[in-house]
Amino acid sequence: MKVAVLGAAGGIGQALSLLLKTQLPAGSALALYDVAPVVPGVAVDLSHIPTDVKVSGHGKDDLADALQGANIVLIPAGVPRKPGMDRSDLFNINAGIVKNLIEAIADNCPDACIGIITNPVNTTVAIAAETLKAKGVYNKNKLFGVTTLDVIRAETFVAEAKGLNVASVHVPVIGGHSGTTILPLLSQVEGVEFSDEEVASLTHRIQNAGTEVVEAKAGGGSATLSMGQAAARFCLSLVAAMRGDNVVEYTYVQVDSDDAVFFAHPVRLGANGVEEILPYGKLSAYEQKAKEDMLGGLRGDIQMGVDFVNG
Ligand code: NAD
Ligand code: LMR
Repeated sequence: MKVAVLGAAGGIGQALSLLLKTQLPAGSALALYDVAPVVPGVAVDLSHIPTDVKVSGHGKDDLADALQGANIVLIPAGVPRKPGMDRSDLFNINAGIVKNLIEAIADNCPDACIGIITNPVNTTVAIAAETLKAKGVYNKNKLFGVTTLDVIRAETFVAEAKGLNVASVHVPVIGGHSGTTILPLLSQVEGVEFSDEEVASLTHRIQNAGTEVVEAKAGGGSATLSMGQAAARFCLSLVAAMRGDNVVEYTYVQVDSDDAVFFAHPVRLGANGVEEILPYGKLSAYEQKAKEDMLGGLRGDIQMGVDFVNG
């Protein structure tokens, strides 16, 4: 198993790489790529941790080496938000970064599963899909927007609000990854009843949790440590599925439905990425309205990505 992290010297990249160095199966390889000159140092630093995961560092002219033979590529490369910005404000810089990295993936490891973390995820996943199509190597089963952070936040906040053991709380989160496109399905949390006020306030907190971190960091970036954990969980689920385990994760994938071309669903993962896109089940009236209200915005975000690649 070879995992490549692109943007590995950043806040997410370093946290994620640490977790993968300690948790990938023995015998795996972990390739760290970044344009920041510190990346070889990050790799040397991690390589002193005594696990059977071989770490390599790759600077800006060494992307092909980082990618060759990769089974999974995770992309947290790009700029994060500052207070007052929306994720869509990152489009101007991050769209081109993602497009260039995806072109290199198409050239060097076209069969790899790709997890996009770079914001705005609603749009960067569409950019990745169109770029892979232009290269003739698009496989919708192997492209994922990583929305696991929305799930772990929802589980944390629900457990806190209800005094539950977070390990036993499971909260589906569907849709996209920004503002109201993030749609937690609190009506489906087993064994827990919420008042209308609780649904409204928890939904609002889950949808704005990224902004909560951006404001708390006061100009120092956005979520990195919780995102490192979320991305590691997603990657390790993919690895487990590739090795034959039965794993379901919520993730933003291409779907065949009336909602939008890309939509976060529960997905059964397998040896080749998406094994099966599962239905998200029955929505409450509140969730149904929230979904209908946000679909136009989500479709617009996706179209921006399509237009970016296709002119
Ligand atoms: P950061 O600034 O700490 O790190 C980004 C890294 O990307 C830097 O090391 C930088 O050198 C590198 N980079 C820039 N251009 C590159 C390129 N062309 N190739 C390789 N590396 C490149 O930022 P961060 O806090 O790690 O956030 C990274 C991205 O992840 C942001 O866009 C942020 O909005 C996004 N994010 C997504 C989620 C999510 O849930 N999907 C959560 C948190 C953050
Ligand atoms: C998050 O949800 O924390 C990320 O998408 C980063 C951000 O800009 O909020």
